[in-house]
Amino acid sequence: MEKRGELYAGKAKSVYLTDDPDYLILRYRNDTSAFDGEKVEQLDRKGEVNNKFSAFIMQKLEEAGVPTHHAGLLSAEESRVKKLDMFPIECVVRNIAAGSICKRLGVEEGIDLNPPTFEFFLKNDELHDPMINEFHIRSFGWAGSEAVEKMKELTFKVNDILTQLFAAVGLLLVDYKLEFGRCKGEILLGDEFTPDGCRLWDAETRKKLDKDRFRQGMGGVVEAYEEVARRLGVDLS
Ligand code: ADP
Ligand code: TMP
Ligand code: ASP
Repeated sequence: MEKRGELYAGKAKSVYLTDDPDYLILRYRNDTSAFDGEKVEQLDRKGEVNNKFSAFIMQKLEEAGVPTHHAGLLSAEESRVKKLDMFPIECVVRNIAAGSICKRLGVEEGIDLNPPTFEFFLKNDELHDPMINEFHIRSFGWAGSEAVEKMKELTFKVNDILTQLFAAVGLLLVDYKLEFGRCKGEILLGDEFTPDGCRLWDAETRKKLDKDRFRQGMGGVVEAYEEVARRLGVDLS
């Protein structure tokens, strides 16, 4: 498959067209962004670690019955994916309170959420990804009712699969963000699943092993991602 022009350069990945109109190439860069692009740094090896990490997770999800865009690793920093019409929406599930929900609702970080809670956000950096509800999604035409139901169902299914996968290696999946898109009438999981877009804590010590290390200036960001990858058995060679 041949790489053609750049379709889009995001904050952490670049998207390329290919000679096959049904497929794109995602290139994971070392750029690391927080607070909707306000804090940006280059972190050595992050592109490669995240590319391989996401490929591993997407494969596990496919095996467990979640349809994804992933179509194989192409190189250390590139993957082939099915081209999707993305919904401009982020689906977040939280198992433990952390991040924006603590600020918004005045709750303490670390509280178990039983049942896990779900939130939609609008993908819009200028507006700082505001939280939206299902009525907003339908009224503004960002997605229809069937798509909204499917995104919720798949996001919770991912929670069942991944909380177990991470628990088996001593990690708590605190929360995560997913993005979906449509391909030939089917709704598929798109974008990535990496420690850039989720929170992972060591189950015993509650040490943070995700992008909060970057947001909070704790250091050891990529080293933490590599530790998670090693525990899962992701091939980083
Ligand atoms: P952002 O746009 O938030 O800065 P990235 O740097 O990760 O994020 O850029 C990747 C972009 O590619 C995102 O906008 C994402 O929605 C989009 N994308 C991810 N997977 C696909 C896909 N399969 N088809 C089309 N677009 C995709
Ligand atoms: P939040 O606590 O900032 O709302 O984030 C919840 C989870 O979703 C956290 O794991 C980070 C992830 N997330 C992103 O990756 N990108 C985003 O733009 C947002 C809003 C959240
Ligand atoms: N994903 C967003 C960004 O890259 C928000 C965040 O992670 O804090 O800026």
